[in-house]
Amino acid sequence: MSFNTFGREFRFTTWGESHGPALGATVDGVPPGVPLDEAFIQGFLDRRRPGTSKHTTQRREADQVRILSGVFEGRTTGTPVQLMIENTDQRSKDYGDIATSFRPGHADLTYHLKYGLRDYRGGGRSSARETAARVAAGGVAQAVLAHLLPQLRITGYMVQMGALHLDRSRFDPAAIAGNPFFLPDATAAGEWSDYLDRIRKDQNSVGAAIEVLIQGCPPGLGAPVYAKLDTDLAAAMMSINAVKGVEIGEGMAAAGLTGTDNADEIRMGNDGPRFLSNHAGGILGGISSGQDIVVRFSVKPTSSITTPRQSIRQNGEEIDLITKGRHDPCVGIRAVPVAEAMAACVILDHLLMDRAQTGGVRGVIG
Ligand SMILES: Cc1cc2nc3c(=O)[nH]c(=O)nc-3n(C[C@H](O)[C@H](O)[C@H](O)COP(=O)(O)O)c2cc1C
Repeated sequence: MSFNTFGREFRFTTWGESHGPALGATVDGVPPGVPLDEAFIQGFLDRRRPGTSKHTTQRREADQVRILSGVFEGRTTGTPVQLMIENTDQRSKDYGDIATSFRPGHADLTYHLKYGLRDYRGGGRSSARETAARVAAGGVAQAVLAHLLPQLRITGYMVQMGALHLDRSRFDPAAIAGNPFFLPDATAAGEWSDYLDRIRKDQNSVGAAIEVLIQGCPPGLGAPVYAKLDTDLAAAMMSINAVKGVEIGEGMAAAGLTGTDNADEIRMGNDGPRFLSNHAGGILGGISSGQDIVVRFSVKPTSSITTPRQSIRQNGEEIDLITKGRHDPCVGIRAVPVAEAMAACVILDHLLMDRAQTGGVRGVIG
């Protein structure tokens, strides 16, 4: 299988399968001299870790990261940073049924059709276990960003879970860390919990929408025309398992607006242009404008459910398939830290590309 590498100047290659001995990421293009240790990366992994609430898979992985190279005396050396996470809680016998059958909505069928064989245990390489490696790589990106762009803030949160929507009038970023849904509204968390309990008891799963807010990004990041910042952010989010749609700013809703509604009018502020709205989501012509960057994506419902679904076996036999094993009832929850990691990798990649091409040249206003 090829194409396991993401990024240009800052790039990482992930390796490993769900039920192999370990997985990890090789991160290249890391500037030298950046303070980095395992504890810093661990903080990000702990937010993605399974089994931290009744609303995520009960697979109990410690997700302890080890840095095998690229760091000396607490600072990056500029050489590849090799990250490894051991798999410690596999139950491969849970997956015996899918060795010869295909879960509707999962990647079993297409992996078989393309490669002719697959590691079916836990979904092998198609498992979102791979996202642990991305979150570790994202931790390296966050360390570099903290060094080079200390004003940058990347915040992911859920805005929808099935029939429930975030009430934006109650948006409170301080609430995100205080509930299992990364929900910026503490008062709604109980209702979300009851709703997901009902879904799980019904042997079902549910989709979600996540928003990532990038604040403090300077103007000028993004390389038109084939490495637009929005192109790369969309590709980054779409590369996450189960993501089916990505929007920037107004996104699909822009189709219903007029030019007068959608224009982000400009006035002169104290230190440069000041926008009166942000329909564009912080990106114009593929280049960051200095406004908040707003990315939203949808995640489909978990395909592995214990309600029988029609499918087929490898030998062509038609069956009703129940998928056992330990699965997330709403994969959107743990997608939040994964999306933040991918956003960090894209912003850093573009920061380094911009430094390489323009060396910081900027137009002057006023
Ligand atoms: C954080 C996260 C956790 C996931 N956990 C599960 C899971 O427990 N069971 C499952 O069937 N799919 C899970 N998925 C989704 C599958 O990995 C994904 O649907 C599958 O690889 C097929 O790819 P596709 O949905 O992108 O087409 C998860 C996705 C994410 C982002």
